[in-house]
Amino acid sequence: MSITVTGHDFNLQTAHTSYLMGVLENGEMGQYYYGPRLGAKVNFADFRHREFRSITPTLTAEQPEVTLSMIKQEYPSYGHGDFRYPAYQVTYDNGARISEFTYQDYEIIDGKPKLGALPSASADVDDKHVQTLRIHLLEQQSGLQMTLNYSVFEDEDVIVRSTTFENKGTSTVKLNAALSASVDFSDDQYDMIQLSGAWARERHLYRRTLTRGVQAISSTRDASSAQQSPFLALARKQTTNQNGDVYGFNLVYSGNFLAQVEVDSYNVTRMTMGINPFEFGWQLKSHTQFQTPEVMMTFASDGFNGMSHQFQRFLTNHLISKRWVKEPRPILINNWEATYFDFNEQKLLAIAKSAKSLGIELFVLDDGWFGKRNDDKTSLGDWQVNLAKLPNGLSGLANKIHDLGLQFGLWFEPEMISKESKLYAAHPDWTIHVPDRRMTPARNQFVLDFSRQEVIDYLFDQMAAAIRETHLDYIKWDMNRHITEMFSLALSADQQEELPHRYILGVYQLYERLTSAFPDVLFESCSSGGGRFDAGMLYYAPQTWTSDDTDAIERLKIQWGTSMIYPLSTMGAHVSAVPNHQDRRVTTLATRADVAYFGVLGYELDISKMSPAEKATVVDQIKFYKQYRLLFQQGTFIRLQSPYDGDGNVTSWMVVSDDQKTAIAGRYQVLAEPNPAYRRLKFAGLNPDFQYTVDGVDGEFSGRQLMNAGIFIPELFAERGNNRDQTFDFHADLYVVHAK
Ligand code: DGJ
Repeated sequence: MSITVTGHDFNLQTAHTSYLMGVLENGEMGQYYYGPRLGAKVNFADFRHREFRSITPTLTAEQPEVTLSMIKQEYPSYGHGDFRYPAYQVTYDNGARISEFTYQDYEIIDGKPKLGALPSASADVDDKHVQTLRIHLLEQQSGLQMTLNYSVFEDEDVIVRSTTFENKGTSTVKLNAALSASVDFSDDQYDMIQLSGAWARERHLYRRTLTRGVQAISSTRDASSAQQSPFLALARKQTTNQNGDVYGFNLVYSGNFLAQVEVDSYNVTRMTMGINPFEFGWQLKSHTQFQTPEVMMTFASDGFNGMSHQFQRFLTNHLISKRWVKEPRPILINNWEATYFDFNEQKLLAIAKSAKSLGIELFVLDDGWFGKRNDDKTSLGDWQVNLAKLPNGLSGLANKIHDLGLQFGLWFEPEMISKESKLYAAHPDWTIHVPDRRMTPARNQFVLDFSRQEVIDYLFDQMAAAIRETHLDYIKWDMNRHITEMFSLALSADQQEELPHRYILGVYQLYERLTSAFPDVLFESCSSGGGRFDAGMLYYAPQTWTSDDTDAIERLKIQWGTSMIYPLSTMGAHVSAVPNHQDRRVTTLATRADVAYFGVLGYELDISKMSPAEKATVVDQIKFYKQYRLLFQQGTFIRLQSPYDGDGNVTSWMVVSDDQKTAIAGRYQVLAEPNPAYRRLKFAGLNPDFQYTVDGVDGEFSGRQLMNAGIFIPELFAERGNNRDQTFDFHADLYVVHAK
């Protein structure tokens, strides 16, 4: 049993962790402990010690030692003496913002049901290793019910939390804040780890020491964003990739979020995560519910790799669609960097034919196939083919692609509208904007009001028609701007603050309808690259375009950061042309592939213009990737040497099969060094008792030797520099390891 309840004490256990809580003196829930597993026998009373402090508000005059500012809480409120930021706030019909929830009862169910309108984790009722606890609290005066939801995924060491508000009273109340989870830790000796960035440098790793007060990351763009990811980790100072304690929190949501840590004057660390209360408000009418998104929480004592493996296993087993999660993903060719908007059927077919001859499996037609779209100024919303470019229509092209033996994929940007479009002429009111106020363009485009059902219905019909007409195999769903002038003509004045969340619910609804109606279409989400790489998107689209930045060297940091949470099967990684289109860097075809293998491989360049020698290299690359595709897409990814450490000159990582019999390590050196220091590459995750060979290295090694002593890495110049024209900057080596 992963959940046991004794009186008012709750003990949630995964294979290696415990999470303890109980009912407090005021009837709310208190947080007791989260960390290494304590087992079934726990002294709960010890967590209930109280101490008197002068000048602090107390629960009652008779209980001077019960002061909320000193008590660790589960889902804290504001206004009764705890002056830290709360997890929620409600305005009642008299304007008061004071809640008094009290514990009512609980229920435990087997498995984990889905949430419905929100992406969420799931487990069948007969999954004996997953249980769900629902703790009900009631606000007597108003009839507002709060349910704290906990699903315990024993095998993955993950607990999923969310909160449900249900108005069982007669008057409308307003939610000003409704976060998903809050955890109070009993000390502050942590570093906060976040993934932050910008377009073309998404999910870079940042680490800072916690300090008193509030430290937070957030999004106000109504997208999880390239700027910040809805994730944070709290790690002990000495925690490394391989060792040490770390807590990870990841929100299953794609819109505005807040991930906040507050250290109080008693060194208690409060982690709060959920929908950003800024730009949020929800009119909760009588007999309606509000469901927060879910937070995945994990604790690992084997460093950041341990945390990542727990998250990755959890996403693989319980969140990403079962239809796709274990499906070998096709190697694709995308025409974007090959042609941009300048293509016709002939050009596309030339690329497709070359791609097929090299072993590629899926042809993806990117932006520019619809309306009058010859640049980024027009036609978003008009999802009908541009006959000037494709005179045989979409089906004409799709049939030829399919006849070549390739799958066919199409780009859409469903959430957007161009002012120069038939859709805008017909429905200007479908655009998010404030009447009589300036409309701020971004990439010459505006955002459709996804809170309107008719908008979603229109897009479903348009996209479904294209899918049917082309027997489509794949969709790249892009989203290239953030929302300004947040206002819906379809919502009343008091509901305008609901729009950011309603917008995201609309995006989820369209995804849900399309993926249900067309279960065999593989979706890849994209937002100017990896600007919306989050677990909410992965629920519908099992892979995400990791970054528009396809430069192999830049990708080291991006893919490293992304792997903190997400499995390799989710990361689109393409080999593109040099000089690279984002940073003009020139790297070899080998280096570009050696980085892109660690993800879902694709090519994004005019393959028809490659030299015979380059084509032969690509043939070999594709053969190699196909041979190890399942390892690359489904193996355990282990980070070895960080591009964020020291001067960042060397990065290495590896992927290991479940049976530990096959592994591939990649070692990347940004700049060659003359007369360098001695170097070894230490592997991880192998079986210490197996005997292994390493391709290109003489002899046999025990797993124990490979992991503890590693292998010698020859100097790039002296050992290999016979060709004086060759550069060893931006160098990559792969080491393929097989058990005997
Ligand atoms: C941004 C994407 O990230 C690119 O891959 C490409 O699809 C363009 N949009 C097309 O407009």
